[in-house]
Amino acid sequence: MSDATPPVVSISRYRAHEGEAVTLRGWLVQKRSSGKIAFLQLRDGTGVVQAVASRQDLSPEAWGEVERVTQESTIRAVGTVRADRRAPGGFELLLSDFRVDHLTHDFPITPKEHGVAFLMENRHLWLRSSRQRAALRVRSEIEQGIHDFYHERDFVRIDSPILTPAACEGTSTLFATDYFGDKAYLSQSGQLYLEPALSAFGKVYCFGPTFRAEKSKTRRHLMEFWMVEPEVAFLEFEGLCELAEEFVAALVARVLDRCREELKVLERDLAPLEAIQRPFPRITYTEAVARLNERGNPIRWGDDFGGDEETLLSEGLDRPLLVSRFPASFKAFYMEPDPEDPRVVLGLDMIAPEGYGEIIGGSQRIHDHDLLAERIRAHDLPVEAFQWYLDVRKYGSCPHAGFGMGLERFVAWICRLDHLRETIPYPRMLYKIYP
Ligand code: 4AD
Ligand code: MG
Repeated sequence: MSDATPPVVSISRYRAHEGEAVTLRGWLVQKRSSGKIAFLQLRDGTGVVQAVASRQDLSPEAWGEVERVTQESTIRAVGTVRADRRAPGGFELLLSDFRVDHLTHDFPITPKEHGVAFLMENRHLWLRSSRQRAALRVRSEIEQGIHDFYHERDFVRIDSPILTPAACEGTSTLFATDYFGDKAYLSQSGQLYLEPALSAFGKVYCFGPTFRAEKSKTRRHLMEFWMVEPEVAFLEFEGLCELAEEFVAALVARVLDRCREELKVLERDLAPLEAIQRPFPRITYTEAVARLNERGNPIRWGDDFGGDEETLLSEGLDRPLLVSRFPASFKAFYMEPDPEDPRVVLGLDMIAPEGYGEIIGGSQRIHDHDLLAERIRAHDLPVEAFQWYLDVRKYGSCPHAGFGMGLERFVAWICRLDHLRETIPYPRMLYKIYP
C-alpha cells in the first residue's frame, strides 16, 4: 500500500464522499469469495459497509491479502464510495487496494449460535456483534437524551458521591467497604445528596452508577446499574407524576427519531413505542391490588409488588402505568405521608408496558424535621449518620420531590431485550464479575 493513500473517512460519513477515493481502517466482519470476486463486510465502529474486491482490479499482493483475511482481522482498505440502493447503508466500497494490519486467528464468536454463558464470558468480544452494538448505541443515545432533557429545563447536574456513610434504600442491599477503619457503602442512590443542593440550585439531577447487593438472580436486577435522578424544590406529588411522564415520553420520541437503524437490527416492533403518548394511565396501590386480585393474583393489601405483579399489571397496557400511594410499611423512610390517608405515602412507581416492570421509583419527600427524624428512628437507621440530611429540614425547608429511573431497565424495554445483561457494556451480576 503506497504512502499517498486517500484520507481515512468513517463509514457514517460516506454520504458526503460519494464518487471519491477514501481509506477505511477497521475490521473484517465476514467474507464471501468466488475466487475472482470477493465481498467483504467491513466495520469501522461507525457503521458497516460492503466492499467489493475484484481480482483483476487489484495488485497480486492486495488480492493475496483479500484471500488471507479472516473474521475480525484489522484491515486497511482503499476504494471508491459508490451509492448502491441494495447495499446495507446505501453505499458500497469498490476496492483498489487492501491490507491486513493484524491477522486474527480463531475469533471465538462465529456466526453460529453460542450459549449465553459463553457469550458472557466473552463479553469483551461479544460487544462487536451487531445486536450488541445496536443496543449499546441506543443506550448511548438515551444517555445523551437524558442530559439534554434536564439541561434544556435548567436543571443543574450535581454529581453525588459513590462512597457514602449511610444507606438510602434499605440496609439489606449494601455493598460495604473499608474506609480507613470506618465502614463506607457504595451508593444505592444519589437522592440524599441532591436534596441539600435544592436550596442552592432549585432543580438538580444526578446520573451515575449505583450499587445494590441484590441476592436475587432475575433478568431485571444488576448489582451495578445507572440511575438518573431529578429532584425539584417546591414540586409536589402531582407535578412529580407529570415530570416523570414528560421525561419518558421525550426519551421514547428521541430514540424513535434517532435510532431507527439500531431498532431495525434489534427487530424491535416500532408500533408499541409509537403509541407512547401522554397522558399515562394512573392508579393507586389500593386499586392495583384489586386489579391483581381480579386477575387471579393473591396479593394482599400491605404486600410489596414483585416482578410477577408488575408484569400482570402491565398486561393489556399500551403505555406506562403510574402507580401511587403505597403503604408506608414497605417504602423508604423519606416518603411524605398522604395527607388524606396516613397509612400510605406519596410514592410513585412507573411500570413499563410489555412486561418490563418498574422503570421509575420516586416520591414527594418529608420536609418536616421532626417527622423525618421519627421515621429515621422507626426504620432503625442511625440518626447520627443522617444529621446532615436532617439539616435540609432545619434551614429553609420546602416541599420537594424527585424520582430515579434505572437506565438499563429503560433500555431493555426500548430495545425489547429479555435480560438487563445486554443493556450495559459490562454487566455486574450475582456471583459474576468477569470480565
Ligand atoms: O425505586 P428505587 O429503589 O428508588 C430509589 O433509589 C430512589 N432513591 C430514587 C429517587 O427517588 N431519587 O430505584 C429506582 C429505579 C427503579 O425503578 C429501577 O428502574 C432501578 O432504579 N433499579 C434497578 N435497576 C437494575 N438493577 C437493580 N438492582 C435495580 N434496582 C433499582
Ligand atoms: Mg422502587
